[in-house]
Amino acid sequence: MRLLPLLAGVLALSFGGSALAQPAPDLKAQCSSCHALEKPAAPSVERLWSRKGPDLWYAGAKFNRDWLVKWLQKPTTIRPGGVMWFNHAKPGEPRDTLDTASLPTHPAVDAATAAKLADALMALKGDGVVTPGAYKGEGANLAMGKLAFGKLRGCVACHQDKSGEGGVSGPQLYDAGDRLQPDYVQAYMKDPQAFDRFVWMPRLGLSDPDLQRITAYITTLKAGK
Ligand code: HEC
Ligand code: HEC
Repeated sequence: MRLLPLLAGVLALSFGGSALAQPAPDLKAQCSSCHALEKPAAPSVERLWSRKGPDLWYAGAKFNRDWLVKWLQKPTTIRPGGVMWFNHAKPGEPRDTLDTASLPTHPAVDAATAAKLADALMALKGDGVVTPGAYKGEGANLAMGKLAFGKLRGCVACHQDKSGEGGVSGPQLYDAGDRLQPDYVQAYMKDPQAFDRFVWMPRLGLSDPDLQRITAYITTLKAGK
């Protein structure tokens, strides 16, 4: 019975609310079981298909920090069908539907931890895979960008630019303006295989004007708009 007060004391110490006692957030320890934090030395189809989460080794060139801080506290779905949508597809007629109930929920953290994790993620610059300044951001025609996305270049077959409208095999893009840096969007569209040789988004051979106007369009898309 003597143990009980002792135990209570230990519990009070470890859960006593002292922020100082909390270990610093550690990407490697907490996140690397699901996310690649370094460029994979040997990319392969097997690695890509068995990934538990999207790659984060270029996170600092990809995300807006504000979005990261919010999302890490309250994660929401980004890929409607999960990292590998076909693992969550239910065969059906005339088309497959998604079994969204089988999607895992993402671990959430408190505000202070989210800020520290976001800083650590923003330090992962991604080996020059994104060229800063590639998106010029001027004079791009938004209406033409929307038309290219939806009709001319077929992005909408795999991506949604409006909630519930469009394909589900790629990440949703209707919040891309909150989530993604324009130079990243431009770089990804230009050459998806630069990020992973085996990624199944096709290299579409887009002209520079197309890259500029589609990037302009996608990065105006914000949640709740
Ligand atoms: C159990 C596996 C798992 C763990 C552990 C995990 N994640 Fe994730 N993470 C995922 C999955 C799955 C997604 C994709 C969610 C989606 O697309 O809807 C994701 C998405 C993300 C995204 C958005 C990526 C994108 O491309 O849009 C970020 C940022 C992220 N995780 C950060 C973290 C951090 C930081 C940690 C550690 C504190 C962590 N994750 C731990 C599975 C995990
Ligand atoms: C055949 C399906 C397909 C088509 C067509 C396609 N994409 Fe993708 N796209 C994908 C997939 C799948 C990914 C995610 C790959 C991964 O993370 O493994 C992706 C990723 C992206 C990303 C990065 C998003 C993120 O959250 O990291 C952007 C931006 C993008 N696509 C834009 C476009 C645009 C613009 C077009 C049209 C010009 C297009 N895509 C056409 C399948 C497609």
